[in-house]
Amino acid sequence: MPHQTKAEIVVTPFANEEKRRNFGATITGVDLNNLDEESFQALREAVYRHSVVVIKDQHGLQPAKQFELVRRFDPEATPKHGFGGKGKGAKELGEALGKNPFYVIPGSGGVTIVGNGYQGENHYGLENVTLKAMSHVDYHDDPLSAEDFENGQARFNIFHFDGIIYGAHPSRITTFRCVKLPQGPDLTIRWDDAGTERVMQCQPGCTAFISGAQLYSLLTDNEKMMVDNSFWEPAPYPFAWSGSRKIRSGGLGLASGGKTIPLDELPEWTSDKVHKYPMVWLNPVTGEKSLQIMAEVVRKVFLKETPNGVQRTVEDEEEIRVWLNGLLDRIAKTEYILVPRVEEGDMVVWNNWGVIHSGIEYPLSYGPRTAHQCHIASSTAPVGPTV
Ligand SMILES: [Fe+2]
Repeated sequence: MPHQTKAEIVVTPFANEEKRRNFGATITGVDLNNLDEESFQALREAVYRHSVVVIKDQHGLQPAKQFELVRRFDPEATPKHGFGGKGKGAKELGEALGKNPFYVIPGSGGVTIVGNGYQGENHYGLENVTLKAMSHVDYHDDPLSAEDFENGQARFNIFHFDGIIYGAHPSRITTFRCVKLPQGPDLTIRWDDAGTERVMQCQPGCTAFISGAQLYSLLTDNEKMMVDNSFWEPAPYPFAWSGSRKIRSGGLGLASGGKTIPLDELPEWTSDKVHKYPMVWLNPVTGEKSLQIMAEVVRKVFLKETPNGVQRTVEDEEEIRVWLNGLLDRIAKTEYILVPRVEEGDMVVWNNWGVIHSGIEYPLSYGPRTAHQCHIASSTAPVGPTV
């Protein structure tokens, strides 16, 4: 049921229909250009209680105000976009992530435009920009054929949380304002995994979400105890390190094969910038536990089955891959995945420490897409149950 919170804000949890997923909400009655402290606190509470919120009617939002909103969630953070700005390329970010230019809206502080296609003569001061959307073809072990893709078949690109990971903690939240949507029939997302014919329909130009709290809830009691007491460590420059490895066709978890880049062939790195993270991150408002491990960047796991057990360090990439896929497979199902329908002017805000998300490509024949995106590296590390 909708409920009134502070000021004029109304938070309406998603109905979630027949699905088993239990997160997401729509918010009305907010003007992000003029957000007083009481309204901000109500919004913050809603983001952490519902994990993903769609704030309606933000057509006139100024990019600088979007940046300010992200900073209000983390006032101690360094005020720049979580990817650090220009200058990072394929050597640091890997071939897939590092190949596209990075466009910060002038005067915004660190809001980028992301999307697809030509963005017009002047978009908030960015002139004649043509964006190329991230493509699942760069990430997937077994991509769709060009013909299927052009006919409206789609894949989840790659589920992840936002952040550069090396030398920076993942952002607490991400804000993503839908400025221009492509126009066309709904897409059919295909898993194409062995033994199933799973598909799911979605509006073109949207983002998919999986709840780390729901993933945690699907584990056995023994698995919960283990992940509560265990840690993972990414590689330095993890997106570059991941090398020629590829993602499974469901967008979640690594396929077999491929090779990582040897550590001594990466750009110069130092161990103090490689942070070790708990496997379970606590929600700062509700205390809820979310399993948050990004499959493609994990180099080591430190497993401890009980609070007083012996910690076992695993560095074997295949052993980590198989173990982690076994956990991720619990939730890689249509009934748990949320792809909120959005309209132009909607601002999507998510708890980046509590969900993972994925873009979904669409054929450019549907027209351009524009979004304003912002996240900033957190000033603190996510906190787990045992740290
Ligand atoms: Fe992202």
